[in-house]
Amino acid sequence: MKPNLLETLLKNISEKLCESYPTVHDELVGISSRLEELYAKIDIGEDDVRIIGICEMGGIGKTTLARVAYTQMSSHFEGKSFPADVRDISKKLGLISLQKQLLSQILSDECFSFFNVYEGNVIINHRLSNKRVLIVLNDVDNLQNLKCLVGRRDDVYKPTTLNDNDAIRLFNLKAFGCEEVPKEDFIELVEHVVGYAGGLPLALEVLGSFLCDRDASQWRSAIERLQRDSNKEIIERLQISFDGLEEMEKNIFLDIACFFNGEEKDFVMKVLNGCEFFLDIGIDVLIKKSLLTVNKYNQLRMHDLLQEMGKKLLEKNLLMNLENVTDCGREEMSTMC
Ligand SMILES: Nc1ncnc2c1ncn2[C@@H]1O[C@H](COP(=O)(O)OP(=O)(O)OP(=O)(O)O)[C@@H](O)[C@H]1O
Ligand SMILES: [Mg+2]
Repeated sequence: MKPNLLETLLKNISEKLCESYPTVHDELVGISSRLEELYAKIDIGEDDVRIIGICEMGGIGKTTLARVAYTQMSSHFEGKSFPADVRDISKKLGLISLQKQLLSQILSDECFSFFNVYEGNVIINHRLSNKRVLIVLNDVDNLQNLKCLVGRRDDVYKPTTLNDNDAIRLFNLKAFGCEEVPKEDFIELVEHVVGYAGGLPLALEVLGSFLCDRDASQWRSAIERLQRDSNKEIIERLQISFDGLEEMEKNIFLDIACFFNGEEKDFVMKVLNGCEFFLDIGIDVLIKKSLLTVNKYNQLRMHDLLQEMGKKLLEKNLLMNLENVTDCGREEMSTMC
């Protein structure tokens, strides 16, 4: 098949999919282009197994996108499953229970009994290999878990932050219930908040919902507070990815957040090489976990909100260390007395 014919066919299929569920993304902004890019990676229409990872920083809309794609594509498959919290469930109940959940959702009238992950893996491969199935695994933080459930991923889709127009649209929808700013005195305030959110849907949604129904003076004090102290809900969500890092990677993340965001990678490597072991591996992990990117000028870039989270964490660590030092000092003083 000629490549442009194939492209047209794929475009038609993804347009048809988008058309068939118009209500799903009424409140969602910029979703059509994301869906198109994702469907192009999935290669809809190809008769083989496709495993695509959606990877990016917290709050960018991975789950939202996966949910819409899942809903749109479901009817084209014989079996489907969307385990929502792979990270939590595998920690709390183990991988075997997730494998069983997957199998019993797809092969609904059957019961499965096996006692190790390897056996589960063999059964999944054997029973699902001749079926057309759609599986979305949400919140996977470990490639080994992914392998035990479905296999190695073929490709990765990385959604970008929302462009300025979409960011303003989403924020306005949350703050005012419509796409336009209703009163002139809010225009500058909106620009401020949207700038702070840096195109991150999570931040736009949290801040828009918080400011909804408040007057201009309340907006001003909220903005002032944001400049002094970050929004807890946003930072806590972002911190989940940080908490999943190894100690060495955490240190490198904090170093970059506090001192080197925007600096040339080679320069950072030179400066930090004496302080951090396995620096290149650590940076690579941060890039893979979407906590860091390298731009075309070879500079290390971190989203402003991730940087803010890093600075807050370092501040907290320093304060805790300082408290420990004063506690030790107090104890020493009391034993001396
Ligand atoms: N395109 C969009 N339009 C409107 N709202 C969106 C869009 N994408 C995401 N959101 C909203 O932003 C919030 C964060 O999205 P979501 O949970 O999908 O992010 P995530 O990347 O899965 O985050 P995490 O890594 O923490 O799981 C959600 O409340 C969602 O409703
Ligand atoms: Mg998610």
